[in-house]
Amino acid sequence: MHERRSVRGFDQSPVDPATLQSIFATAQQAPSNCNVQPWVVHVVSGDSAERMRTALYDRAKSGAQPSPDFPLTGGYPGEYRVRQIGAAKALFAATGVAREDVAARTDSFLRNFRFFDAPHAAFIFMPRWAGMREAADCGMYAQSLMLAITAQGLGSCAQGALSHYADVVRDQLAVPEDMLLLFGLSFGYEDTTHPANAARTVRATLDQATIFHD
Ligand SMILES: Cc1cc2nc3c(=O)[nH]c(=O)nc-3n(C[C@H](O)[C@H](O)[C@H](O)COP(=O)(O)O)c2cc1C
Repeated sequence: MHERRSVRGFDQSPVDPATLQSIFATAQQAPSNCNVQPWVVHVVSGDSAERMRTALYDRAKSGAQPSPDFPLTGGYPGEYRVRQIGAAKALFAATGVAREDVAARTDSFLRNFRFFDAPHAAFIFMPRWAGMREAADCGMYAQSLMLAITAQGLGSCAQGALSHYADVVRDQLAVPEDMLLLFGLSFGYEDTTHPANAARTVRATLDQATIFHD
């Protein structure tokens, strides 16, 4: 848990197929309501990763409005906004992007759609009938997956951004209309020299998040 953090700069060397299989087999152990396991995960590598990277980046760069399967969260209120700003500040401080430099901030955001140069990305879908409980199951799956990735000495970044153009992802992967895209995740070997990977986030204190009752 303490070793995992979001990695936003990857070495382009692919992960070997046996390790990929092992990571995704391990993540299948995630718990879910009534064991329904509502996630269906599409993993792109090689040519399929290149096609997806190009298609998503081109769409995002064109300035097209997002077309996600689930509405994007509007603004975060109060303390949640403070945390959001803290995470963004940590990233921009690490990468030397100035607050007023709109072009550099846009470029930084667009790197999402190129998987931060990672050789692999996973896209997490759930069935159209599914609701908030099943979305929570998919969150459990995603954290299990990220811990399995960490345990193999690899890095990952969960990305809501990879769900912004759900139609692009669905077309590329020929996913049926009854499956909806929650978010994606880039992963691979960390480029330890990439400045983005020096960013660190902090957490609320235990008493802010957890109330113990006797
Ligand atoms: C569901 C989800 C979606 C996220 N979407 C993005 C994203 O689109 N782009 C990004 O750079 N980071 C994204 N993140 C990473 C968060 O910013 C990160 O987890 C948070 O700031 C805490 O930092 P840490 O992961 O390094 O501990 C996402 C994380 C989660 C769990």
